[in-house]
Amino acid sequence: MKKGNFTPNYPPNVTIVEVGPRDGLQNEARTAPLDVKLEWITQLAASGLPYIEVGSFVSPRWVPQMADTAAVISALPPSKANYAVLIPNEAGLQRAIQVGAQHFSIFTASSNTFTKKNINCTIDESLERFIPIAKYTQHHNIPLRGYLSCAVACPYEGAMDPQQSAAVAKALIDLGCYEVSLGDTIGVATPNKIIALLDACTQQFPMSQLALHCHDTYGQALANIYAGLCYGVSVFDASVAGLGGCPYAPGASGNVATEDVVYLMQGLGIDTGIDLKRLINAGHAITRQLNIANRSKTALSNIVTTCPLH
Ligand code: HMG
Ligand code: MG
Repeated sequence: MKKGNFTPNYPPNVTIVEVGPRDGLQNEARTAPLDVKLEWITQLAASGLPYIEVGSFVSPRWVPQMADTAAVISALPPSKANYAVLIPNEAGLQRAIQVGAQHFSIFTASSNTFTKKNINCTIDESLERFIPIAKYTQHHNIPLRGYLSCAVACPYEGAMDPQQSAAVAKALIDLGCYEVSLGDTIGVATPNKIIALLDACTQQFPMSQLALHCHDTYGQALANIYAGLCYGVSVFDASVAGLGGCPYAPGASGNVATEDVVYLMQGLGIDTGIDLKRLINAGHAITRQLNIANRSKTALSNIVTTCPLH
């Protein structure tokens, strides 16, 4: 698409990874009941989201909101959407195998302090713990996604060196992850920081193996996503209604709202395969159920369905 003298090089299609049922609900004070989760995830899938992270097999003592992930996986009817789970270690792997989960994610960070607070080990130890998970997924042909938290900055150590982030991201790729999602966990990045990170990562492995996971603490998430898009990133994580955060990243606000990312993509003429109206309804449904505010600007705007631009 050419606009005057500016010729952005957007990818023609973008994949949105919905992390609300995991990243969103893990941070809510009120645990969503199982039937509410199931209905909501089914609504999300019906909106056309291709990939939904529905829970995590972490310790229920650390994150009680995710204690029913096995029940979620077991009860969800088959769907066109891929349902994924987050797994920290071999105990989590066994729980995922027991219920036949089909898409796995592993997660570490650029910072040792955050890794210790989040999963009680160092970065190197976390990579060791992932080996049995990686072997299992390779043997059983299960897609394995990687997350790199604090890829830009850590709530305990401050700014992260992009080369350090790229090195840990590469370690996840070497373990067999088809893609690494670079997390601005505390939502402090600005587009220049994202570009520096992408520069460092693409020196180590191809762009096609990168995704962005932006939190919106300073209202920069959409600007960062746009920078990533212009750079050539085509996979973005988001959470309906802007739910979420990490319980071990104090001060971090929610993820970028999926509705706002879809609105941006539609405006740019980029296909996501998502029905925005159904997505907005799904966001309102969960925020009503949990009695919390909807943080999607698109969802809160009542002109969205008649917007002359779309
Ligand atoms: P630990 O205490 O070091 O584990 O926790 P341990 O191996 O010493 O075991 C202690 C007890 O936990 C044992 O039970 C284990 O069986 C049990 P006990 O003998 O005392 O009865 N245990 C488990 N139980 C269930 N499932 C398991 C499991 N593992 C051990 N998988 C552990 C280590 C990783 C489990 C813990 O630190 C934990 O669960 N952390 C939670 C981390 C988390 O979920 N954080 C939020 C997600 S990450 C995130 O949000 C960032 C992201 O969105 C990207 C971004 O924004 O940057 C992905
Ligand atoms: Mg997150």
